[in-house]
Amino acid sequence: MSKNNRVWRLQERPVGNITNNTLSLEKENIPQPKDGECLFQLNYLSLDPTNRIWMSDETQYMPPVVLGEPMRGVVCGTVLESMTPDFKKGDIVSGIGTWSDYQIGSPESVGLLSQVDNVSAMDAFATLALVGPSAYFCLLDIGEPKAGETVVVSTAAGAVGSIAGQIAKIKGCRVVGLTGSDEKCRWIKEELGFDAAINYKTANLPDALSKSCPNGIDIYFDNVGGTILDECLKLMNLHGRIPTCGLISQYNALEPVPGPYNYSLILMHRLKIQGFIILDYLERFPEANESILKWMSEGKIKVRLDVSEGLETALDGVKKLYTGENNGKLMVRVKEI
Ligand SMILES: NC(=O)c1ccc[n+]([C@@H]2O[C@H](COP(=O)([O-])OP(=O)(O)OC[C@H]3O[C@@H](n4cnc5c(N)ncnc54)[C@H](OP(=O)(O)O)[C@@H]3O)[C@@H](O)[C@H]2O)c1
Repeated sequence: MSKNNRVWRLQERPVGNITNNTLSLEKENIPQPKDGECLFQLNYLSLDPTNRIWMSDETQYMPPVVLGEPMRGVVCGTVLESMTPDFKKGDIVSGIGTWSDYQIGSPESVGLLSQVDNVSAMDAFATLALVGPSAYFCLLDIGEPKAGETVVVSTAAGAVGSIAGQIAKIKGCRVVGLTGSDEKCRWIKEELGFDAAINYKTANLPDALSKSCPNGIDIYFDNVGGTILDECLKLMNLHGRIPTCGLISQYNALEPVPGPYNYSLILMHRLKIQGFIILDYLERFPEANESILKWMSEGKIKVRLDVSEGLETALDGVKKLYTGENNGKLMVRVKEI
């Protein structure tokens, strides 16, 4: 049997940044599905900050990827062969899979991709497979925004942050975005309608936050932790909420990161800080997807994709998430649908 399947395997747990030695691309046989499984060909691979978490063996919300095993990823593919009544040949599926051309799926690991007219399969996968529902539930269920409140969002020009900020605008909030370049600031303000944008890499953060949030902060949608969290804590209003969606400033840390210096303000201002993991909301995805698709079709939510071509680009691609080189939802197109 010819080795037509390319598979990225985890070779080393990264210490600090992901390197070229972290994964290797191997040529292997195409796997055969068993009863209850299907074989699918990868169309799109989502690259996500959590890939770095899965590569490590720190305490996390899923088992770490085992050394030597295929790298785990959020995937979208076309069914080639099915041995389960849940899928038939030609179905487009998405869910948790691996960084490989051909792979085995089951009803437990993948489901049919939500598709609607006028939204391409790639846009639907990029927006609805993970990041849109994450922004939706983390902001609405944990943040509980009310019209007139001030919401600050970090990684505001990224996949989750840009959607969270736009949903907060839809809910009538004043929205301030933090991001790492002037171009990204321009995009979230001029194209997405954020009320203010701060380049956290060049601004004096305490001054810029105070100026952009004259009435304090009611919700800080935290995607980064670290210094930005500490600065936002200082401005949190009484009974403010901090949905903790991500901690990307810490994923490459070489040693344990100290807690927030302004921890006492959680007590003094009676703040709610709650961690969020999207896997807890899988059953409610249709609710989020319906709202997001409606807002997209009404022009109230805009998304931008940062797509690289070819499975071989995945390792170089994923590194961009930790430098801010990505412009929007980062993904790899392996084979167009
Ligand atoms: N809890 C969940 O279930 C869940 C689900 C999906 C995503 N997330 C989290 O959401 C966050 C954003 O993920 P995403 O997929 O939307 O990625 P993204 O925002 O599209 O890309 C990551 C961005 O993070 C920013 N960044 C990188 N290093 C940083 C640092 N040290 N300090 C501040 N910002 C930094 C960069 O933007 P700048 O140019 O703005 O610096 C980069 O573009 C991540 O923390 C991720 O773990 C959580």
